[in-house]
Order: sequence, then C-alpha cells, then structure tokens
Amino acid sequence: MGLILSIESSCDETAAAIVDSGSQVLASVVASQIAKHAVHGGVVPELAAREHLKAVIPVTESALSAANVTLQDISAVAVTRGPGLIPALLVGMNFAKGIAQANHLPLIGVNHFLAHIYGAFLDGGLEVLQQKESYPMLALVVSGGHTSLLLIREDGSAEQLGCTIDDAAGEALDKGAKLLGLGYPGGPIMQKTAENGDPLRFDFPRPLTGGAGRALAPENLYNFSFSGIKTALLYHVRKAEESNSINEQWLHDTAASFQMAVVDVLVRKTLTVLKHHPVKTVVVAGGVACNAELRRMMAEKLPKNVSLRIAPPKYCTDNAAMVGGIAWHAFRKKEFSPLNIDAFARLPQIVKVPFID
Ligand code: KG4
Ligand code: ZN
Repeated sequence: MGLILSIESSCDETAAAIVDSGSQVLASVVASQIAKHAVHGGVVPELAAREHLKAVIPVTESALSAANVTLQDISAVAVTRGPGLIPALLVGMNFAKGIAQANHLPLIGVNHFLAHIYGAFLDGGLEVLQQKESYPMLALVVSGGHTSLLLIREDGSAEQLGCTIDDAAGEALDKGAKLLGLGYPGGPIMQKTAENGDPLRFDFPRPLTGGAGRALAPENLYNFSFSGIKTALLYHVRKAEESNSINEQWLHDTAASFQMAVVDVLVRKTLTVLKHHPVKTVVVAGGVACNAELRRMMAEKLPKNVSLRIAPPKYCTDNAAMVGGIAWHAFRKKEFSPLNIDAFARLPQIVKVPFID
C-alpha cells in the first residue's frame, strides 16, 4: 500500500489529492483563485498566499472524504517545493509539514516541473514509464512559467535541451489575450476566441525557428522566444486601431493566427529535437498542453513511430494528483524530506528524474 496525501500551492490553485501507488488517483480536488486574480490581470503572490491559507484545509478535507479515507490510511504527505511563488508555496509546505508531524508521517518534497511531466502517466500510465521501449523520452513542458524541452534517458538521467529565453508559452498567450482585451487567464480564452477564426489570415513571427531568412545561432537550436510574437501583436493591434479595422471577425482571426504562431513554434522545436535524437515517446505537459490546437498539431506532425502522451486536461493544469503520483517513487525508496526543507522559486538544473529506477 502506498496512499499519499499531496498538496499543491505553487501558483493560483490550491489542490489536494489522494493517489495510490503512484498511479491510481482516488481523489483530486482543485480550488482555483482565478476570479480573485482576474481583476488584477495576473497572479498577485501575496493575494495567492492568503487564498491558499483559506482553501488548504477545506480542499484537503474534501480530498480525504472523496477518496473515502482518513489520515490513518495515509502513508506519506507530499508537497510541492517549487518552482513557484514563494509566499504561495510556503502555505502548502507549512500545512503539509504540520500534518506530517502531527500524524508521524514521512514528508516528501516535490519538484513541480517534474510533477507536470508525471501528470501524463497518472491513472494507468505507470507501465509506460517502466518500459525500456519508451526511451529516450522527450518532455515538452509548457505552462505559465515554463517552456522547456527535457530529454529523459532509460537510466533516469535527464538533460534540458532548451528552454525559453524570455516569456513562457502560457505567458505569451496570457499577455496576448490581455492585449486583445479578452481577460485572464489568456490561454483558454484565446483558444475559445480562435475557434471561429482563420489562422492563416495574419502572419505572426515564429521566433528562433530559423525563418525570415535569419540563420539560427547553434545555442538557440532548442530554445524558445515568445516576446517577439507579443510585440508583433501589439503593433498589429495598433495598426488595426489606426485603420479602424477592428471588428468581431478581425478579433477571431487575430486570436487564431496568434495561437497558431505559438503552437507552430512548439511543434517545430519538438520536431527539431527528433531530427537529432532517437526519441521514442513525446510527452506534452503543463497548462498549455490543454490547448486543442497544440494537441491536434502534435498528433498530426509527429512521426508515426513516436508515441505521443498528453495528459487529460485535468492533469495538465496545476493539480495535486501529479504531485502525489511522482512522490510515490521517493516513498518506495524511503527518500524522505526533513521537516526543515525550504521552498524554491526557480527551476534547478535537472540531471535526473525520480520516477525511473
Ligand atoms: O500548469 P499551469 O496550470 O500553471 C503553471 O505552472 O504555470 O499553466 C497555466 C497556463 C496559463 O498560462 C494558461 O493560460 C495556460 O496554462 N492554459 C492554456 C489553456 N489552458 C490553460 N493555454 C492554451 N490553451 C488552453 N486551453
Ligand atoms: Zn504548473
């Protein structure tokens, strides 16, 4: 038995889950603070911390009751340590430490970035992680904070091949949506607005893909840049304002063309890695992996001998099930965290993943 209670509070979602043996999710409860932050046009860290403080106990109680278990049935407490907003992380961490201490349970600190990758293997995907044939594996992690390509080998060693040199993909969609007056968070609204639009009407740049006649510096082969797309959108809006050409259809076509530019870059970079590495499995993880166009394009463009894994949307955006799932691997090896572990804001260099033995 390995029932893990997990807590997630790295950004604007307070979440708790009960996961059995690294795979079966018995309960996953997420309380979103989106409405609180929407009025500010983005996440305010102190506000997030205060909201986590209010939500963390009820969310944990609902997870326990939805799984029909009590704290007596739990084997360990897992919690996100980072990367994330420090004030937000500290709420979940202190709460998890308190539960672990009071119930004499081991504590397991989890890396949120790696947990996102694990999200694609919950509810029955554990065998895929354990099969040699699944490797090398390439994980594209795309969220509000990350855009990164991680190569994972059969022995569990890992190498970050590239990442964004400015904005993350989700951040570009969020900022783009704000510029278009669509609201927050931008990704889902951009997708909705793009549904009735023509993605080929406007030509937004595809930075660092070697287009526009510019040679790509070798160090940027697998890197991303999204700030240029955002600036192009700003000029596009200004031009339309000046020529008085903003209308419903313009908005739909702009959203569709902008979304297509972001998705196109993500797919092209993934394909570039495949040219140079014998990848067997591509995992797409993080909030942006919810995007229907990205899911469709990845499935369409990946070679047929590469298997594609994308989590269902509920495990793409922030949740605690992915935290409890990945923590089970540390639990099995008795790799527990001391009660004085600290939170961290930035992604440390990843050289190993914890879910391959
Ligand atoms: O993983 P996540 O919940 O939080 C972070 O760790 O950042 O990702 C949030 C990001 C936001 O930028 C949001 O706009 C984006 O994921 N997102 C989407 C969609 N749903 C969420 N982006 C594109 N299409 C979506 N359907
Ligand atoms: Zn996240």
